[in-house]
Amino acid sequence: MQTIIEIKNLRKIYQDNKVALDDVNLNIFKGEIIALLGPNGAGKTTLISNICGISSITSGDIKVNGFDVVDNYREARKCIGIVPQELSFEPFEKVINTVNFSRQLFGKKPDEKYIENLLKKLSLWDKKDQIIRSLSGGMKRRVLIAKALSHEPDVLFLDEPTAGVDVELRKDMWNTIKNLQNSGVTIILTTHYIEEAELMANRIAVINNGKILLIDKKDNLIDRMSKKTLIIHTNSKINKIDKALEKFKLRISKDKKNLEYDYSPNKKKTGITTLLNEIKKTGIELIDVQTKQSNLEQIFVEILKND
Ligand SMILES: Nc1ncnc2c1ncn2[C@@H]1O[C@H](COP(=O)(O)OP(=O)(O)OP(=O)(O)O)[C@@H](O)[C@H]1O
Ligand SMILES: [Mg+2]
Repeated sequence: MQTIIEIKNLRKIYQDNKVALDDVNLNIFKGEIIALLGPNGAGKTTLISNICGISSITSGDIKVNGFDVVDNYREARKCIGIVPQELSFEPFEKVINTVNFSRQLFGKKPDEKYIENLLKKLSLWDKKDQIIRSLSGGMKRRVLIAKALSHEPDVLFLDEPTAGVDVELRKDMWNTIKNLQNSGVTIILTTHYIEEAELMANRIAVINNGKILLIDKKDNLIDRMSKKTLIIHTNSKINKIDKALEKFKLRISKDKKNLEYDYSPNKKKTGITTLLNEIKKTGIELIDVQTKQSNLEQIFVEILKND
């Protein structure tokens, strides 16, 4: 796998001494979608701003396509498109003009065909002569993506691309992002919608208090961290766990009718057979059993809780 962005020992301390990034090390691979997950104030936007040269880094190194973002700022910046968290526009400009203008800012020659294809890909072609103010919020966000891609960058940063976007448009946006990946763009997105990360990302990085707590392939993360719970419905009211069952660390449900047992589905021995046998010996009568599996959201909450 080819590394496209290399971050080493990155620290960012704002003027008020706020440590926003604390020794971040991260490699981003060409062609992947990586999702940065973390609560408000975790440092996601700061990380993006540092990579894009929008805010200065305190110490450490960042390279994009081999170009140092400080020493080779212009070259590095050319490889990057960014859709910022906050929408900002020239409200009275036409869509096509604002996108063409963004391209010019990078010193790229005009390319009508490229821009036409880009606008078509983002379903904006029929809106190209509308002024931005007249577009809906979701369409405005697409214009921002078009602007970010106007100079043909290799990497696209999307800082909360679907915040405040309705369900329909969000799904549409996910398609658009996947298509961009298929056309070879590397994508880094931040999101508060875990479902979005679960659907879109190849890898997930969890960030909190300026530190990367964990980074892994999404599937590994879910396999490795997900827990299963066996819910055992019984016929009796359980007030206390029998001594013989203590070793299973069972929980009693609120209505006192069910027992809950956490196990790891990836282990060879889940302990379920032994548990059910032991329960039988105690005389408790079983009515039904059921399992439930934790999803990425619960995994995420668990990771932050343990931090
Ligand atoms: N210009 C600034 N000056 C001082 N502190 C800042 C500045 N920008 C951000 N911070 C602080 O740095 C920390 C990280 O902020 P950042 O915006 O990177 O978080 P975030 O993960 O993007 O949060 P959100 O999910 O709310 O967008 C926060 O404590 C924030 O208050
Ligand atoms: Mg942010």
